[in-house]
Amino acid sequence: MNFGTVTRMCKLAVFASGNGSNFQSIVDAIAHGQLMATCEVLICDQPDAKVIERAKKANIPAFVFDMKQFANKTEFERAILKKLREYDVTFIALAGYMRLIGSTLLEAYAQKIVNIHPSLLPAFPGLDAIGQAFQAGVKVTGVTIHYVDSGMDTGPIIAQKAIDLTEDETEESLREKIHAIEHVLYPQTLGKVMGGLNE
Ligand code: GRF
Repeated sequence: MNFGTVTRMCKLAVFASGNGSNFQSIVDAIAHGQLMATCEVLICDQPDAKVIERAKKANIPAFVFDMKQFANKTEFERAILKKLREYDVTFIALAGYMRLIGSTLLEAYAQKIVNIHPSLLPAFPGLDAIGQAFQAGVKVTGVTIHYVDSGMDTGPIIAQKAIDLTEDETEESLREKIHAIEHVLYPQTLGKVMGGLNE
């Protein structure tokens, strides 16, 4: 019998700016009992992003924060932080969120923000990592999940998965392979890192 530890289910917020296929994979993994967490909110910075529709379908509250409506990044992040606190969020997964996280959120969620990036970091940080890798003619690329710090795709690496490019690889086929890996690796890795949070 174990009366000792009480493990609180992780209350996750996903931040996304676009399509949201990774958001979907997290939501699906939770629904299928593969990821022990709740997805409390979607935070989005683009009013027309497809990910908002996905959140609506999954009955997950979605909030759009448009940077243009705020005086500066601190105010923008303070508004987001207020929302995260309303929902008692304990962990943040960035999933195609096209914005650097600033000190307001980094301090409030120290070591509790992770990101997924479609290359083997530190190779090809920044925008269009898949296109960058393909055009560089690499034979191997992959996916990285890392803790978020103030840099662009620079925080400590948690997990990576490599894939070999075939002789007849196209940028499009590479994109599909990368996304297929992401959709498995992100929920799995989130389960591992969030499982370590006993509070
Ligand atoms: C993914 O490739 C992710 O690695 C990167 O942005 C992309 C988002 O795709 N950070 P989606 O919006 O989840 O489909």
